Amino acid sequence: MPNVRFRLNGVETSLDADPDRSLLDILRGPLHMTGPHFGCGANECGACNVIVDGHAVASCDTPLWSVADKDITTIEGLGTAQQPHPLQTPFIAEQALQCGYCIPGILISAAALLQQNPNPTDANVRAALDRNLCRCGSHNRIVKAVLRAAAEMTAR
Ligand code: FES
Ligand code: FES
Repeated sequence: MPNVRFRLNGVETSLDADPDRSLLDILRGPLHMTGPHFGCGANECGACNVIVDGHAVASCDTPLWSVADKDITTIEGLGTAQQPHPLQTPFIAEQALQCGYCIPGILISAAALLQQNPNPTDANVRAALDRNLCRCGSHNRIVKAVLRAAAEMTAR
């Protein structure tokens, strides 16, 4: 098996695996990162999103070989219960989580947006989350939470 190296949540990572396996399969399997969720498996729902070199990508549709030497961030790398990412507290405050299945992918897409655009408009947030589906219909509260996080982060 070929060896593939990358940085996962800031940690140098190396594993021997079929380079054509999906990144999601590798993350949830041998790397035990279960935050990225399997939804559609076809790059249509965003539940599996991770940040690769600053951009939110669907890990179900990303072959392992394509992330060699790149920086990958999963929801596990965004924040912890003790030290939440600035997006996570507003999601709780705005009651943006229902079943929660879509939320890791949505937080990842939102985090990538705020890295690129710390002052997004409502339209910017909706565009960035356009490919993230939420079956619980929490979209409006999710957008509100992202805008609240952006305002809090820029006020610091
Ligand atoms: S599971 Fe990857 S986009 Fe739906
Ligand atoms: S909170 Fe349930 S799918 Fe989004």
